[in-house]
Amino acid sequence: MDFKQHSTQISNVLVIGCGGAGLRASIEIKQAGLDVRILGKRPRTDAHTVLAAGGINAAFGNLDKKDSWKQHFIDTYQEGYCIGNPSKIEIMSKESPLLVKELDVWGANFAKLQNGDLDQRFFGAHKFRRTCYSGDFTGLSILRTLLKKADELKIPIFDSQYVTELLIKDKICFGAMSFNLSSCERTVHLADAVILCTGGHTRIWKKSSSRKNENTGDGYFLGLKAGCELIDMEMVQFHPSGMLFPEEIEGTLVTEAVRGEGGKLINNQGERFMRRYDSERMELSTRDRIAIANYTEIIEGRGTKNGGVFLDISHKSKEFIVEKIPNIYRQFLELQMLDISKSPMEVAPTAHYSMGGLLVKPEDLSTSVKGLFAAGEVSGGLHGANRLGGNSLAEIIIFGKRAGVASVNYSRNLKQQVRSNEIIYLAHDNINKFIKNGNELVRPLQHELRLIMWKYCGVIKNEELLSEGLKKIKEIKIRSKDLDVRIDEYNCEDLVLAFDLQSSLMSAEATIISALERKESRGAHQRNDFPKIQALCEFNIVVKLNKNRILEISKVPLKPLNQNIQEILKDSTLEENIKNKLLE
Ligand code: FUM
Repeated sequence: MDFKQHSTQISNVLVIGCGGAGLRASIEIKQAGLDVRILGKRPRTDAHTVLAAGGINAAFGNLDKKDSWKQHFIDTYQEGYCIGNPSKIEIMSKESPLLVKELDVWGANFAKLQNGDLDQRFFGAHKFRRTCYSGDFTGLSILRTLLKKADELKIPIFDSQYVTELLIKDKICFGAMSFNLSSCERTVHLADAVILCTGGHTRIWKKSSSRKNENTGDGYFLGLKAGCELIDMEMVQFHPSGMLFPEEIEGTLVTEAVRGEGGKLINNQGERFMRRYDSERMELSTRDRIAIANYTEIIEGRGTKNGGVFLDISHKSKEFIVEKIPNIYRQFLELQMLDISKSPMEVAPTAHYSMGGLLVKPEDLSTSVKGLFAAGEVSGGLHGANRLGGNSLAEIIIFGKRAGVASVNYSRNLKQQVRSNEIIYLAHDNINKFIKNGNELVRPLQHELRLIMWKYCGVIKNEELLSEGLKKIKEIKIRSKDLDVRIDEYNCEDLVLAFDLQSSLMSAEATIISALERKESRGAHQRNDFPKIQALCEFNIVVKLNKNRILEISKVPLKPLNQNIQEILKDSTLEENIKNKLLE
């Protein structure tokens, strides 16, 4: 096929992704007086942000007066097992109160105390009640607020756009190519700067809290191909509680707010088993520990007959449950005809969040490609080896805004705009090459990929499993060269799936080779052949595409902590083996 037709759109900044990070960035850009366009793959009112249920962290200290940004820093850094970027964590901890307040002023319906201050709930491993919330639909309430603001500012949002490629000339990004998901019409978007806000890749595991066609690793593929690097891709968070059935929704999130509001985890012997894993924090331990606890109970035969553990909040009144976790109440009624105010839920770990991602500068979210920025889950560095619940919504707001500011500065200071028809034609060729009648169907390959990731790169890993998984991914990669992709002017679903598969395969490979390289167990990265944390393993793992288009891996030692950070950490309870190493 030789098809090279497109329409052209121009803006100062192009934002790819219409979730919280993309919207917050765009608001900043528009308020600064520049043109911005947002492209989204999903409908704007249903971006993945709506699934972030339980809350957003800000150290207001409304209930626990001793809370401070420093304590938020300590909790995030230490529970991320000290491989998160301290500057990024410092920015988040310091800036979130102001930006959460701003969201409230813009109309987010956060729960309030009687004195009008924001209410704050406990979330796992936060020393204090720090998580602001709207019931268990905080992400939805934030997304609606940002959409309303974007609407007032007349920011154009184009959903149903699939971005196939970033346009790069001489290592400078000057836009992107997309096609419309239903008409297949192509658009070239020219821009001074581009911000990627495309989410993560946890849909590529069989059990996932992401829905069909979201979080398929698109941003990682786009970024790698453009010349960016990925950091710590092995750090994939398994949320302790996903739904088990019906099969079509397996993995759907059961928010941590259930535990935050008093839910108990119980095995088939009626034992509140968290006593054996973290007797102090129990169900409010870190996600990695609870996910491992749930997983262990299940594989050691103490699980439910459907392959989970019980999560019980039925000791609370129905009124309390309906007020604090209304969506979960309805979700179980609708999907399982289960009244959680009377009976326990059954839950099991589910792939939830990509803690690794594109390597960016914490201050301005710039990547190693000029004019290209990345914010939100697509970027790495904030959460280290274990993300604390409620930090992701804080992340998208704070770093979305910062990416917006940085793109404005970049655009204003740009001396010359890059354009290249040759690059645009190549981007057409890269779409056209998929459209042919091959022998492989995309859906079965995608299904196989999800099974492989679950089986060989799941909650507990080892060299043998990972190597076998990598071999299988490479086999699918070869088969994916012969796809059957048929499109017409009303349907380009095959093409969407083919691109998703391409992104997912590259993300899967980056994840597995990183997991092979990290020969230790740290946070969410658990290997039963290296069960201990290696104090000496103080590095990030970086992956990039080399000039032969092969993924190349390197270990980058962590920089020594500066004086200020050392001072903040001196009162923390960092596990001794890590602490000694870091502070020596
Ligand atoms: O459990 C939850 O509500 C998820 C929150 C988060 O991932 O931050």
